[in-house]
Amino acid sequence: MDYYCSYRILFSLLFFELFVSVSCSRSLVQTQQIKDSVKNNSLTALFVFGDSTVDSGNNNYVSTMFKADFWPYGIDLPNHIPTGRFTDGKLTTDFVASHLGIKDYVPPYLDKTLSVEELMTGVSFASAGSGYDPLTAQTTRVINMDKQLEYFKEYKTRIEQVIGKAKMETHIRNAAFIVSAGTNDFVFTYFTLPVRRKQYNITDYQNYLLQGTRNFVQSLIDLGARKIGVVGIPPMGCLPVMITLKSENAIFQRGCIDYYTTVAKEYNQKLQTVLQTVMKNNAAKHGAKVIYVDIHEALLNIIHNYTNLGFVEWKRGCCGSVQQAQTKTNSRHSTTAIFVFGDSTVDPGNNNYITTALKSNFPPYGINLPNHTPTGRFSNGKLPTDFIASHLGLKDYVPPYLNKSLSIEELMTGVSFASAGSGYDPLTPPINNAIPLQKQLEYFKEFKTRLVSAMGTEKTESHFRNAVFFISCGTNDLAENYFIAPIRRYQYNSTDYQNLLLQNARTFFQSLLDVGARKIGIVGIPPIGCLPVIVTLNSKNAILQRGCIDEYSIVAKQFNQKLEAEVKTMQNNLLHSGIKIVYSDIYEPLLDIIHNYKHFGFDEWRRGCCGSGLLELGYLCNRHIPICPDPSKFIFWDSIHPTEKVYYLLFISFLDLIDKYL
Ligand SMILES: *[C@@H]1O[C@H](CO)[C@@H](O)[C@H](O)[C@H]1NC(C)=O
Ligand SMILES: *[C@@H]1O[C@H](CO)[C@@H](O)[C@H](O)[C@H]1NC(C)=O
Ligand SMILES: *[C@@H]1O[C@H](CO)[C@@H](O)[C@H](O)[C@H]1NC(C)=O
Ligand SMILES: *[C@@H]1O[C@H](CO)[C@@H](O)[C@H](O)[C@H]1NC(C)=O
Ligand SMILES: *[C@@H]1O[C@H](CO)[C@@H](O)[C@H](O)[C@H]1NC(C)=O
Repeated sequence: MDYYCSYRILFSLLFFELFVSVSCSRSLVQTQQIKDSVKNNSLTALFVFGDSTVDSGNNNYVSTMFKADFWPYGIDLPNHIPTGRFTDGKLTTDFVASHLGIKDYVPPYLDKTLSVEELMTGVSFASAGSGYDPLTAQTTRVINMDKQLEYFKEYKTRIEQVIGKAKMETHIRNAAFIVSAGTNDFVFTYFTLPVRRKQYNITDYQNYLLQGTRNFVQSLIDLGARKIGVVGIPPMGCLPVMITLKSENAIFQRGCIDYYTTVAKEYNQKLQTVLQTVMKNNAAKHGAKVIYVDIHEALLNIIHNYTNLGFVEWKRGCCGSVQQAQTKTNSRHSTTAIFVFGDSTVDPGNNNYITTALKSNFPPYGINLPNHTPTGRFSNGKLPTDFIASHLGLKDYVPPYLNKSLSIEELMTGVSFASAGSGYDPLTPPINNAIPLQKQLEYFKEFKTRLVSAMGTEKTESHFRNAVFFISCGTNDLAENYFIAPIRRYQYNSTDYQNLLLQNARTFFQSLLDVGARKIGIVGIPPIGCLPVIVTLNSKNAILQRGCIDEYSIVAKQFNQKLEAEVKTMQNNLLHSGIKIVYSDIYEPLLDIIHNYKHFGFDEWRRGCCGSGLLELGYLCNRHIPICPDPSKFIFWDSIHPTEKVYYLLFISFLDLIDKYL
């Protein structure tokens, strides 16, 4: 569980006091009383400003990497819809609005489809990644606090046109305002970028931010706000992102870093003084009420008492290293494109365009994609390469090359040449009528020729130099060709077969370098003995006694070890060339997920979600077959391929490598 996942508890502790009395105690028993009192006060609306703690989706409408409109964000919302809220469910402000009897969700202002009624009861102007320091929003490319005020002014004008000036002003006077920001200023700007640290020592930076806060609150009052709650900042030293960035051994020795927490505490103390001053200065003239809302102590309590409160884990976010991923912005990656080769793990639909039995462009495949569209991806949703492309700021879906309608622009930012059923062994693709790696490479060359004629040789070369190449292949060679089809097993023992694959893999990587690839990521193969189809075909009692078949997984592991060594050797031989070629393991991460499936929120690992889950794959997994009610509770989607959730978790496990090397 992480900071964001703790909102539900935080909510109970924090916000009841806001609109009643500053001295009101935090007891939950008082809820009803507070509600009554609030009703008496007749609060009309809730307006929200600040950062990701209160952004309900404005960033969906701006061009930034700080987005959360994709899974697994929103997994606990109705229909698991990711809305742009940076958590698994509702935000604190949603709970506040519910309990004030206003509405259940505070929508983002930038959603242009909101009705006047929805606008009237309140919206959020907040933007994840924002802060009181203007540099913060500039770095993260999100909506800064001044711009949020501008939007509020625009909002007032819109409402005035509907209900007239006098009513609009009363409406604003009776509304509650919540401002929550400051964390990003410290975490991302002061402690991460060098600029501010050169200008200010920590005391002066706190004061600088407080000046920003004071100005912001004063502007709200000038615009008519009368009930304002300003939220302090959390114990920053305990935020997963901070621990990861600042611990010497961030993986094994994780603990709160007191220094950052002290800074936050000092800041909160000063903030209270500042707000009291603002309130005093405005009380007589405007009757404005400005209060400080503490989350510091409440959150610290949750962290120290996490087991009592029912949390299992606090040192890592509940979404892997997602927090860290969020700190990356587009500008860090100069990647121009992503090109993908391999098998069904990365084929987004090339097999739709060829004659093969291995297809998945029909329901229930793709059931969790937008509009439930089956695209030819062998899963319920996105593939790992889709997540990678999003992360690199390129595109949200890597399309299949064989779709002839793709524009040159779409092709340029990346495309997949992969084909379900393909492999390193030239005998593997023919078993499935899949596109062999050599042919995939020819398609790439064809594409390169098109690009050269469109933009010249020099630009094309430079475009490819900054592109990432991904290869995910090998599972079919072992799981299908070697262990199921008869030929290869008669010719080779498993060691020799691994060596054969390795030799072909090496040749393929070399061909990629020859056509201009400079950044290559190679994915190993999974513990194939745990794939449901392998378990079914090789267990004595496949229905009742299902367990991973180690004998098969061991061969996969041996192959991975050789592949990794081979890739290291290639990299060492290319040391000063600027070429990066890296191996990424999926074996251990997937095994970890299988062994700890409950911890990751899964209910089932022994069978796929489609049908019985024992054998269904491709045409056997079709619209007439029932599926499990909730694919996110399953590790496998069909009898071979993981669900989108597992692909996402695997993507998270690649992040470090991607950010370091590619
Ligand atoms: C709200 O107003 C009603 C009647 O106007 C009153 O009976 C009730 O005590 C008030 N509630 C609070 C908490 O002030
Ligand atoms: C920061 O600098 C100010 C002067 O600008 C000084 O008064 C203060 O003591 C310094 N604080 C720290 C923590 O060094
Ligand atoms: C843990 O919770 C108890 C009450 O539930 C509280 O008294 C105590 O202060 C909390 N511990 C810490 C370290 O905050
Ligand atoms: C092929 O690409 C075009 C252009 O992006 C797209 O509109 C179309 O839906 C794609 N076709 C399929 C079958 O996905
Ligand atoms: C496979 O055969 C080779 C000789 O071709 C031998 O060196 C190796 O030990 C054998 N491996 C296994 C696992 O039997």
